Amino acid sequence: MKISFINPEIKEGQLKSVAVLPVFKGAKLSNAYKSYDKLAKKRVSAAAKAGNVDGKAGKSVQIVGPDGTKTNRLLVTGCGPLAEFKAENFGARVTKTLLMSGETTLVLHLDGHDLTPTDAAQAALGAVLASYRFDKYRTKLAANKKPTLKNVKIAIENPSQARKAWNNFYGPVGDGTNMARDLVMEPANKLYPTSYAARIKKMEALGLQVQILGEAQMKKLGMGALLGVGQGSPRASQLVIMKWNGGKKGAKPVCLVGKGVTFDTGGISLKPGAGMWDMKGDMGGSAAVVGAMRAIAGRKAKANVIGIVGLVENMPDGKAQNPGDIVTSMSGQTIEVQNTDAEGRLVLADALWYAKEKFKPKAMVNLATLTGAIIVSLGHEHAGMFANSDDIAEQLQAAADNSTEAVWRLPLNKAYDKLIDSPNADMKNITGPGAGAGSITAGQFLQRFVGNIPWAHIDIAGMAWKASRTDPREPSWATGFGARLMNRWVADNYEG
Ligand code: BES
Ligand code: MN
Ligand code: ZN
Repeated sequence: MKISFINPEIKEGQLKSVAVLPVFKGAKLSNAYKSYDKLAKKRVSAAAKAGNVDGKAGKSVQIVGPDGTKTNRLLVTGCGPLAEFKAENFGARVTKTLLMSGETTLVLHLDGHDLTPTDAAQAALGAVLASYRFDKYRTKLAANKKPTLKNVKIAIENPSQARKAWNNFYGPVGDGTNMARDLVMEPANKLYPTSYAARIKKMEALGLQVQILGEAQMKKLGMGALLGVGQGSPRASQLVIMKWNGGKKGAKPVCLVGKGVTFDTGGISLKPGAGMWDMKGDMGGSAAVVGAMRAIAGRKAKANVIGIVGLVENMPDGKAQNPGDIVTSMSGQTIEVQNTDAEGRLVLADALWYAKEKFKPKAMVNLATLTGAIIVSLGHEHAGMFANSDDIAEQLQAAADNSTEAVWRLPLNKAYDKLIDSPNADMKNITGPGAGAGSITAGQFLQRFVGNIPWAHIDIAGMAWKASRTDPREPSWATGFGARLMNRWVADNYEG
C-alpha cells in the first residue's frame, strides 16, 4: 500500500478516487464535507440524512459517481464522539471496507477536526495493517478476489509533520508487524530453522548485524536443552542474534528473546492430529522479535537492542529425545524432559541464559507461544505477562496501552516454583498431575534461567494467530502480535 499525506484543499474533488468523510457525534462538519456537498449540489447532506449518518459510530452511506465532482465515490461515515476517536482503527475499518471495491485510491479526510499529524500517521498504520494479505501460494485467485486499493492519501493540516511521524515511526512499525505476519503464515516446509535464519540475515540491509549459530557452535556452548528439542528433526537448529547499535557506544543493551519452534508436533509426546497444522505458528514469539527488530532498525532507534531467536523443529523420530530424558542446559542446570511437548521452555532456557551471559542486558523480555493454558485463562484478548520486576511489568503495561496490543499480568512465586522440582534432576519441564497453573509454572521454569536480570515473559499462545477476528487490523490468521508492543516498549523506555 502506498501511503501519502496531502493538503486538505478540495477544488473539484480528487480525480478517480474514493473520498472518505468522517462525521463525528456532536461536532461540526469539516470544510471537506461542505466543499463536496456544495460541488455535488447538496446530494452529500441529503444522502447522509436519508441514511441516518449523524455521527453514530459505524453508520455509513456511499454516494457513487456524485455529480459535480470528479471523485468516483464518497463514503460518509459516522465515527462517534471526537474525544473517543481512534485513528488507527478508523484507517483500518475504512481500508477493509474499500479494499476490494474496484477503487485504487482512497482519500481519507482527517482535516477540519483538530486532529494531529500523529492521528494521520496512525490512520495510515491502520490502513497498512488492514490491507495485509498472504496470497503468495494462491495461483488461482480470481481477479475479483484480489485487492484493488493501491494508494491511501490522508488529507490533514500540516501533512509534512504527518509524513515525518510516518517515516520515523509508524511506517516501520507497519513493516515490522506485516513481516512478523508473513513469517507466522509461512508453512513449515518453507520456513524451517535454516531458511528462517537466511531470511533474517537479509535484514542486514537495514543496518542490523546478524549472527547465526549452528548446532556445532551451540553444542560447544553447552545448549543441551535447545539442541535436545531439535534432535528428532533432520533440519538443523539455529540460534540467530540480531544487533541494533543505535544507542551510546558501550551502553548495556536490552534483549528481546523469541521462541521459534518452526513446527511443534509435540515430539514423542505427539500432539493429536486435529488442528496440529496450527503449530506452524509456534514460532510466533520469534516472529514478534524479528518484526520488532525490523521496526527498530527501520526507524533508526537511538537504543542498543539485541534480538535473539531459538529456531528448532520439534519432531518424533528414532533420534528424538524420549520422555524421561535428562538434558544439561547451558546454565549447567539439568532438566528432566517428562513431556517432549513442553519444548518451548527448553529452547528459551538456553536462549535466555545465552542472552544474560553474553550481553548482560539491563532488561530482557521473551515472547513465546508457550502454553495452551494461557488461552484457557485469557482467551484471545490479552497475552499473559510474567515478570520478576514490577518496573518492567509497569513499562510493558504502558507500552501495551500505547501500542494497542494488550497484556495481563499473572503471578510468579515460590509456591508455584516448587511444582517443577524433580527427584531425578534439578527440575522437570512439566508439573505433576493436577497441579494446574500451567502458564505460571512455565513462567517459573523460565525464571530459573534469567538470574537477576530484570525480565518479563509474554505468553502469546492466544494472540499470535486467531481463527476468527472482529478487528479490521487483523485481516489474516497471523496477527504479528508482539512486534508493535516490543517496539513501543523500547521507544518509551530505552531511547535518547
Ligand atoms: N506450542 C505449544 C503451546 C500452544 C498451544 C500454543 C496451543 C498455541 C496454541 C507448547 O509447546 C505446548 O505444547 N505446550 C503444552 C505444555 C504441556 C505439555 C505442559 C500445552 O500447552 O499443552
Ligand atoms: Mn509443544
Ligand atoms: Zn510449542
